[in-house]
Amino acid sequence: MVYHIPWIYTPVRSVLAIWHQLTKAEIPELAKCSVLMRDRSRVEDTIYAMQRAGAGRLQVISDFDMTLTRFAHNGKRVPTTHNILDHRLLIDEDCSKKIRELLNTYYPIEIDAGWTAEDKLPLMVEWWTQVHELLIQQRIRKDLLAQAVKESSAMLREGYKVFFDRLTEQQVPLLIFSAGVGDVLEEVIRQNNVFHPNVHIISNYMDFDQTGVLRAFQGQLIHTFNKREGALSHASGLRVLQGRPNVLLLGDSLGDLTMADGVSEHQNILTIGFLNDQMDERKELYVKSFDVVLVKDETMEVPNAILKYITSSTDKLDA
Ligand code: TMP
Ligand code: MG
Repeated sequence: MVYHIPWIYTPVRSVLAIWHQLTKAEIPELAKCSVLMRDRSRVEDTIYAMQRAGAGRLQVISDFDMTLTRFAHNGKRVPTTHNILDHRLLIDEDCSKKIRELLNTYYPIEIDAGWTAEDKLPLMVEWWTQVHELLIQQRIRKDLLAQAVKESSAMLREGYKVFFDRLTEQQVPLLIFSAGVGDVLEEVIRQNNVFHPNVHIISNYMDFDQTGVLRAFQGQLIHTFNKREGALSHASGLRVLQGRPNVLLLGDSLGDLTMADGVSEHQNILTIGFLNDQMDERKELYVKSFDVVLVKDETMEVPNAILKYITSSTDKLDA
């Protein structure tokens, strides 16, 4: 039987509100001035809900280039997986020049806040297709990729080891979803000792002939603005991701927001966007699109703090 005693409601409601505030995510890193949030309260509620559900219900989906890797270091751009292939052992000078010209033409379009994703789409296909054709013409050798990565200035974000190791410890699958080159990506994480068994990759993989020479790229091309198709056709079929309705998504491009579109029956999705370039022009759009925006932050400090909070819940609640 329910007694309607109005004076009891107010204190109960206040106590509940205070309790809710007290149990809300306490993550001091979110107060950094490089962190922007459209709706801080929603972010906190989502993190809290994910914490309650625990590590067993979580999956992490991350972009690679300029998300898990740094954008710049000591004022110099850090190479993407495609740019790591720009190495004298793999391609000649003429090809290198052409690939750089294509980058100078298409990258400004990729990040231009004035264009819609639909408008960018055919141009991205043009960019990727031309670069892949040039790479195929160079007859790149598989056995030289590791050396090219070793001699490159590829660099994962500061704090990457904590990120990868924590996910492994907690048995949380990490899906790296990249429009870069899968073989190079694998080599970067292998050389940094974080290619753990919980890491799954969807990317553009090279197809080598029997002698180990590049002859094509495998499967459907992935570029920055068609990740939704990849999510629906590949990610949704990955069994390790089933039964994990909470998603922490990391990206640096608006196209990365579709990486979780293959997650069926999702409950909570928290999106974190690294705003690396064209900050003033894109800030508003990023804040509108991602739940948490990290402006010119070359570290994994904030994702690591969120992850630590979410995954520490299981021990606490079980205790
Ligand atoms: P991501 O999906 O892992 O971020 O990889 C895609 C990035 O690769 C995208 O931001 C543009 C970049 N890219 C190059 O740097 N050089 C190239 O030649 C191509 C085709 C893409
Ligand atoms: Mg990226």
